[in-house]
Amino acid sequence: MLIKKRPSWAMAEADATSEHIYLNRREWLRAAGFTGLGLTTALTGVGGFAAAAAIQGYPAPRNMAYRLDRDITPEDDATTYTNFYEFGSSKNIWKRAQKLVTDPWMVTIDGLVETEMQLDAEVLIAKVGGLEERLYRHRCVEAWAMAVPWSGVPLANLVKLANPKPEAKYLQMETFLDPSIAPGQKQSWYPWPYVEGLTLAEATNELAFLATGIYGKPMPAQNGAPIRLVTPWKYGFKSVKSITRFTFTDKQPVSFWEQLNGNEYGFWANVNPDVPHPRWSQKTERLLGSGKNVRTQLYNGYGQQVAGLYDGMFPNDDRKLFH
Ligand code: MTE
Repeated sequence: MLIKKRPSWAMAEADATSEHIYLNRREWLRAAGFTGLGLTTALTGVGGFAAAAAIQGYPAPRNMAYRLDRDITPEDDATTYTNFYEFGSSKNIWKRAQKLVTDPWMVTIDGLVETEMQLDAEVLIAKVGGLEERLYRHRCVEAWAMAVPWSGVPLANLVKLANPKPEAKYLQMETFLDPSIAPGQKQSWYPWPYVEGLTLAEATNELAFLATGIYGKPMPAQNGAPIRLVTPWKYGFKSVKSITRFTFTDKQPVSFWEQLNGNEYGFWANVNPDVPHPRWSQKTERLLGSGKNVRTQLYNGYGQQVAGLYDGMFPNDDRKLFH
């Protein structure tokens, strides 16, 4: 997915950054009057100011409805071979990602909802239900794959909390924007912040998961702490990391990779071994850890849960669903 040079369609740096005001998170909390929201039990004093306690509940009870057809990927592989372009375009960014301060972590829920809200990730997770663990396969568009135990909550719970208006059709999710700690965000030809989106039907599908942990522990920064999306039937780039904003909208979001190259990385991005990426085959995948190549499955093996979402959507060209 690497885009090495600034291409002609790239945004100017000023366009990418000038409209954003970067408040230090603690200042942001103070500005938002967070200490006055009656959340004192979730907050502990640090230097005269409040810092939220980390998300609790690890290891979470495993939901046995989600089983694997392969071994769990060794933890070291899944946590040191990661895609997080905010910290660089190589897979080896895990050390750099430690600069990300994930506690406190303010999340905004806005757009077409009855009541917009801003709350700390820990408070949000406490509101939307207890953590559970799920074993999911993960298939990157680059044809590597892993199988990991995520801890988190169904995304449908957040949708319910947000109480979207009837006009809302999509959920857009956005990653933090802070070039002072994320060197990749200084590369202005990328359309930061990283954005992804789902239809509300997808977001409320039982599989869509907001993960806060992995391997029975809190999420490491490089895997998208403190809160990331996991949509195991779609290529991995849909699973946006370190989410700060959930926006309900009536317009189909244009995601980060789609803005860069919509012919190669589309909105739907459902896994299909029979629809090749324009530059490589999607028939097989290399498993992190063992390095074994195995056949890729339609919807990454989750067709039973999700195929119905797309019935009749593109009667003349259903290939649109798979890139
Ligand atoms: N989210 C953000 N914010 N930035 C990214 O670069 N990469 C995506 C996705 N989410 C990415 C992201 C891609 S391409 C993949 S395959 C998965 O994260 C990888 O998740 P992992 O590193 O935890 O395996």
